[in-house]
Amino acid sequence: MLPTPRPELMRMPQVAHGSLDYAELAGLGLDPDRTLDFSANINPYGPSPAVTKALAGVPVHRYPDREALALRRALAAHLGASPEQVIVGNGSTELLWLVALAFVRAGDPVVVVEPTFGEYARALALMGATIYRPTARPDRAFQVPLDEVAGDLRRSRPRLLFLCNPNNPTGVLLPPDSVLAWARDCPETLFVVDESYLAFASGARSVLDGAHENVLVLRSMTKDYALAGLRLGYAVGHPEVVDALARARPPWSVSALAQAAGIAALEDQAHLLRSLKLLAEAKRALVEGLGHLGLEPVPSAANFFLVPVGNGAALRRALLQRGILVRDCESFGLPAYIRIATRRTEENGRLLSAVAEVGL
Ligand SMILES: Cc1ncc(COP(=O)(O)O)c(C=O)c1O
Repeated sequence: MLPTPRPELMRMPQVAHGSLDYAELAGLGLDPDRTLDFSANINPYGPSPAVTKALAGVPVHRYPDREALALRRALAAHLGASPEQVIVGNGSTELLWLVALAFVRAGDPVVVVEPTFGEYARALALMGATIYRPTARPDRAFQVPLDEVAGDLRRSRPRLLFLCNPNNPTGVLLPPDSVLAWARDCPETLFVVDESYLAFASGARSVLDGAHENVLVLRSMTKDYALAGLRLGYAVGHPEVVDALARARPPWSVSALAQAAGIAALEDQAHLLRSLKLLAEAKRALVEGLGHLGLEPVPSAANFFLVPVGNGAALRRALLQRGILVRDCESFGLPAYIRIATRRTEENGRLLSAVAEVGL
């Protein structure tokens, strides 16, 4: 008989994600290069040209710097923090897994504010945590259920709390003050705030500005800086928390290419700001276009937004047959919704035509 894996592994929830599923496309006879992906929330204007240039000069025969010191120094300077407060990871996904690995014991109470990115609960389930899930509701405009969160914090005194801000998939932005007040009231809880989409929310404040010892901020460089294929993210927090994550991390998890790309991307803020401005305008026009088709997108602070369509999976299927991929929201417990990430104006036009053709 084969050795059996840990029981927690078998009980872990299966998590769906956006982005192209190459096997699915092959099954449908679709060419990935000709499929327009509205399902992954990535800056469609791509990375800075400086990134491509930097990649060409990276020696790939050597191991990367295990500590990623140059990149951490660049991030620290960008954030007004010290390098000891910053850790980089193979995408923010690796970092949130490290948080679970480093801090959560079997049976620990933890809080995940739902509906949200599925990896938090997956990582926590593998650690055997008891997960409390205060959940934002459609009939309350998907606002973070502050009373429910406060109740779960009071009753369970959790080891940690995960909050995504602005939230995936709802796009709802919570001002940092609530999190900072919770952090003050619950010093024994680690508040992990995933700000992977904060750059897309023009003018939004970061919870970093109110720096609390028990707040850890996660950021992705795969979304705003468009480095999804390279995988790069970072976390900022108290040096002792950051050190715990560093101890749990496998060595060399951030490649030399990703480190060089990260430094080059950070140096070209003009490219980022230009593309974010174009994207905000493209989003406004796309939301308006969907409105003209009789749809009512949910107001969102991010580059993506939810749209109630009746049967999300059916619309996804119909659009995919036309070479257009959107995210159906069944896995978020919202089967009546799709999530659309804004792309460039001309591509958004193709989505609008396809939706009009399919009808609802
Ligand atoms: C909220 C949120 N956090 C983190 C991630 C993971 O991003 P990364 O590519 O940095 O691993 C995603 C990806 O979809 C996300 O939606």
